[in-house]
Amino acid sequence: MSASLDRRRLVAGLAGFGLAGPAAAGPLVPTPGQTEGPFYPVTIPADHDHDLMRVEGAAARAMGTVLHLEGRVVDRWGRPVREALVEIWQCDAHGVYRHPRAPLQEMADPGFQGYGRTLPGPDGVYRFRTIRPVPYPGRTPHIHVAVVVPGTGRLVSQLYVEGEPLNERDPLFRAIRDPAARERVLMRLEDGSAIEPEALATRVDLVLDL
Ligand SMILES: [Fe+2]
Repeated sequence: MSASLDRRRLVAGLAGFGLAGPAAAGPLVPTPGQTEGPFYPVTIPADHDHDLMRVEGAAARAMGTVLHLEGRVVDRWGRPVREALVEIWQCDAHGVYRHPRAPLQEMADPGFQGYGRTLPGPDGVYRFRTIRPVPYPGRTPHIHVAVVVPGTGRLVSQLYVEGEPLNERDPLFRAIRDPAARERVLMRLEDGSAIEPEALATRVDLVLDL
């Protein structure tokens, strides 16, 4: 057994006694990698900021429930990874991706940006304003995410809604067998009305295997 595994077990044991708070954190379980899927943008759209609810020049904001997604990009020791670029992409409220090969393009919501990117602050915190993901045929609701760290690599994963009944039938979600790894990709949706009326909010840390 490796030293780091030993330590992980020790920390897990301590957690049971309430002794392992954030200050005593051991190695964190990394965010599991997932397939990129077929709908990563072919070309990055002109408007690719962190606010997917508004497209520059569009008459209306996106349809759907606003979700404020934020968290930290950290290494396995919880240290912020400042040089990371965080990207997300997802389908609109009708289940349509902004992608030339995605079905039902004629139904696409012109107000939804579909893709956004951001650089975390010095504390590693990233933020997006987007929609609560919706299902489309064959998939449970999810948000695609990628974290690029120059010289290190690219983590590609997907974020899911905690408690969503479709998760248990979704082959990609089910492929993450380790409960601790599953926990990394689950979004616990909470009332976000303190940020914006009728919005949801969630925090997901992206843990790089560094
Ligand atoms: Fe997808």
